Amino acid sequence: LAIRARNDFRAVMNHEMRTLMHAVIALSSLLLETELSPDQRAMIETVLKSSNLLTTLVDDVLDLSRLEDGSLELEIGPFNLHEVFREVINLIKPIASIKKLSMNINMALDLPTYSIGDKKRLMQTILNIVGNAVKFTKGGYVLIKASVANPESSRDWRPEFHPASCNGHFYLRVQVTDSGCGILPQDIPFVFTRFVQSRSGSNRSTGGAGLRLAISRRFVNLMGGHIWIESE
Ligand SMILES: Nc1ncnc2c1ncn2[C@@H]1O[C@H](COP(=O)(O)OP(=O)(O)OP(=O)(O)O)[C@@H](O)[C@H]1O
Ligand SMILES: [Mg+2]
Repeated sequence: LAIRARNDFRAVMNHEMRTLMHAVIALSSLLLETELSPDQRAMIETVLKSSNLLTTLVDDVLDLSRLEDGSLELEIGPFNLHEVFREVINLIKPIASIKKLSMNINMALDLPTYSIGDKKRLMQTILNIVGNAVKFTKGGYVLIKASVANPESSRDWRPEFHPASCNGHFYLRVQVTDSGCGILPQDIPFVFTRFVQSRSGSNRSTGGAGLRLAISRRFVNLMGGHIWIESE
């Protein structure tokens, strides 16, 4: 019965809520095309921004719910790995430049162009981490490094994870560094738990539900990888 209720709930979230949100988004976009006073324009812009945020929140809650009961499956296919990073940069750079953060990417020369995996979920995960770096950094920089993990240089890795590449598989290593507030050492073990936010950077004003690190960890685990935080 509980499973049935959960599936019904998810179906409603997915279909009904999405349909309603689409109507709100489409109509407020249309309204913005009309003649409005500055006050009205600002209000409709807020309606549009909030509806977009609500839509991504619904997506996140659905993803997490399906990840938690194991019903989310990766969609594996060939994709351009370099393009994933280009798309991440294109999406995040405008936000970084509003905040006057320098944003750079460092792709190793031996990073394969084509790869097989779940492009959408890989990109979503990288976006979550890079998005946090930009969100919790007031000034300075955000740096993304992408390389192929080399099992020989195991000192780079946490002791509990030893990637070993075999027949055509490789471990993609993505390192995101920022000059922001960091995370208190005592908070690190908890921030991958849903709805948990660190005391150092988050407050009501940064917004967010505290879901995306939880989602990211589950995606990385599904892909056979490992994700961790270092803060100083
Ligand atoms: N780069 C970072 N610098 C400082 N704190 C961070 C960083 N990344 C994550 N955190 C901390 O970890 C918490 C959890 O991150 P998570 O992405 O799950 O949630 P969120 O960003 O608050 O909300 P959302 O679900 O919208 O992403 C954040 O609230 C923040 O306290
Ligand atoms: Mg986040």
